[in-house]
Amino acid sequence: MELTKFWKGKKVFVTGHTGFKGSWLCIFLSYLGANVTGYSLKPKFKKNLYDLANVKKILKKSIIADVRDYNKLFKEIKNSKASILFHLAAQPLVRQSYNDPKETFDTNFTGSLNILECIKNIKNIKTSVIITTDKVYDIKKNKIFKETDQLGGYDPYSSSKVCVEFMFESYVKSFFKNNANQILATVRAGNVIGGGDYSPDRLIPDIYRGLSKKKLYLRNPLAVRPWQHVLEPVSGYLILAEKIHTPKIKKLKQNWNFGPNISSCKSVKYIFNYFRKELKINLITKKIEKNIKKPETSILRLSNFKARKFIKWKPKWSLNKSLDKILEWNKKIKYKKPLDVCKEQIVEFLRS
Ligand SMILES: NC(=O)c1ccc[n+]([C@@H]2O[C@H](COP(=O)([O-])OP(=O)(O)OC[C@H]3O[C@@H](n4cnc5c(N)ncnc54)[C@H](O)[C@@H]3O)[C@@H](O)[C@H]2O)c1
Repeated sequence: MELTKFWKGKKVFVTGHTGFKGSWLCIFLSYLGANVTGYSLKPKFKKNLYDLANVKKILKKSIIADVRDYNKLFKEIKNSKASILFHLAAQPLVRQSYNDPKETFDTNFTGSLNILECIKNIKNIKTSVIITTDKVYDIKKNKIFKETDQLGGYDPYSSSKVCVEFMFESYVKSFFKNNANQILATVRAGNVIGGGDYSPDRLIPDIYRGLSKKKLYLRNPLAVRPWQHVLEPVSGYLILAEKIHTPKIKKLKQNWNFGPNISSCKSVKYIFNYFRKELKINLITKKIEKNIKKPETSILRLSNFKARKFIKWKPKWSLNKSLDKILEWNKKIKYKKPLDVCKEQIVEFLRS
């Protein structure tokens, strides 16, 4: 991986820096020597990686503000003098999107529209990576999705991200096609797991929360997901940004999957049983009857062929290794600073 030298001293703007993936991205960037400005709302939940790892301390500036506020966003991106931008800020939970579809569309669509408009108007931004999701694919068929497959979202979250993809395409074709100085890409990653995720309605945080309650409800035990350690897509975003920042590779303004190998696409039940064995716990699980009003995809697998071929990214950690790293993270933060545990795992990941 050629990450180290390139990032040293680079000015980078990250939205969603107070979130799970955003915190890991900021820690990674700061480890590589980048000057990071973060822009997002404050963490939504009391327990969160951003505060635990004191991510604010390693940033050049942390701005607590809304991506729906165009004027503020514009001013802060301009002031940051950043040349590289990662847009992660979003309402990212499928079930929450059923509870509040308006907030989800507003944040994900309007927020991304504001970002694209800022990039168009701030010429200092040379490289932009817009984070969408693996759930943008039209999942009628049980297949391995590649970037050119048809898009289509059923639930409000997926649909809001499909809207972002279409809007992105329109902006690229309309405003950036002949602009070799500004390169943009969207990235679609699988189900991201790792130490420091405390979000509701996500399997591994739910397992840890279930430990104290001795009871866990598995929503959809047979659902198969492209699980991957958070360092996998985050390293993919960094490699991609580095590649497209180099003027030689102009044609890479596109969409990219960052999915795990197919062997890591396992069921919810598989993950649950792994933790049950490793944590030696006796959780009671109860399958909830499929709620037809709030369907979630049952099988979702992503092809990572394109990223492997064109930017030489490939998954490094197997699913079991990734699960071990989560167990390790949760054990180590009992006696070490979470920021140091994250950095240790980044170093190990880079050496893998
Ligand atoms: N975690 C996953 O499995 C996964 C998988 C695929 C894609 N993604 C995408 O990755 C990105 C990050 O996801 P995450 O898991 O870290 O989520 P998260 O909920 O931990 O973080 C979301 C971030 O967005 C910010 N945010 C939300 N609304 C905002 C607003 N109106 N203005 C400014 N900031 C706002 C939050 O403050 C937070 O910093 C999202 O775009 C998500 O859709 C996540």
